[in-house]
Amino acid sequence: MSWITFPATSFMPIQATEIAKEVDLLYAFLIVSSLVSFVILIGGMTWFLVKYKRTSVDQKSAYITHNNFAEFLWSFIPLLILLGIFYWGMVIFEKLRVPPEEVAAEIHVTAEQWAWTYTYANGKEFYSAGEDPLIVPAGKPTKLILTSKDVIHSFFVPAFRAKQDAVPGKFTQLWFEPKEPGEFIVFCTEYCGTKHSGMMIKIKAIPADDYAAWFHAEKKGAETPADKGKTLFAQKACASCHSLDGSRIVGPSMKGLFGNSRKFADGSSANADENYLRESILVSSAKIVEGYPPAMPVFQGQLSDEEVNNLIEYIKTIK
Ligand code: CUA
Repeated sequence: MSWITFPATSFMPIQATEIAKEVDLLYAFLIVSSLVSFVILIGGMTWFLVKYKRTSVDQKSAYITHNNFAEFLWSFIPLLILLGIFYWGMVIFEKLRVPPEEVAAEIHVTAEQWAWTYTYANGKEFYSAGEDPLIVPAGKPTKLILTSKDVIHSFFVPAFRAKQDAVPGKFTQLWFEPKEPGEFIVFCTEYCGTKHSGMMIKIKAIPADDYAAWFHAEKKGAETPADKGKTLFAQKACASCHSLDGSRIVGPSMKGLFGNSRKFADGSSANADENYLRESILVSSAKIVEGYPPAMPVFQGQLSDEEVNNLIEYIKTIK
């Protein structure tokens, strides 16, 4: 594919996000500090070899058993450096993993052998084995909600230094904020079968205004995932147990559910995110909300992944 281009002169791919710069700085520090350690260790060893070489058979060796202070220093100083590197990495890791509260675009991305499907909140959907780019706004955060239809795939954007597995049966997420408009290659980085190495798409970041215009120029009659979820919610008679206005029927109300903290009968608690909703829809007995009976039927095997997605997107809109 001709669009795969890396600047030939650079050591790393282009830095298309702010976080990419931070990742590279840490990486450069690791390389330089490894090099310095190497020189000190191997250089010192070589120097001692030459300096203390035994030159005659009857030469007495100056044998030292140990030196507490030196041993303390060569353990403690590296410990401090490693703890510093750990903390530095942890700060960047958290920035990479935790999306901002408000994102400009939230897109469902579903992997399968050997293509990606992007579903936008307005119902636009693209199945792409390399042709259609994933369109996102530039200069604004985008959050992807990933899953897979078959085996584990992995969504990797080198220019953003961002990578996340797409796992069948659960949701994972990835966020990024491209600084400028541009096109960025996406690799699948989990071996997933014959055409794994060809499972490439690109992300096309366009100016935020253009994105908004593109997003709102809907196909006529296109139902959004939330619309489809609403229909399904009615078809499955969910409303006979779950109110939409906060009132109590048999089960907990759907009002303001998404993103809220839930307390369970066994004393544990969790945030009502996509994975929680998915589990509760399919196997409701996994987590029983405190104060409610375990009365909901099991929907495992009765709803497709897409239907579960649509229900979740609908529940998100009940605020
Ligand atoms: Cu999909 Cu490798």
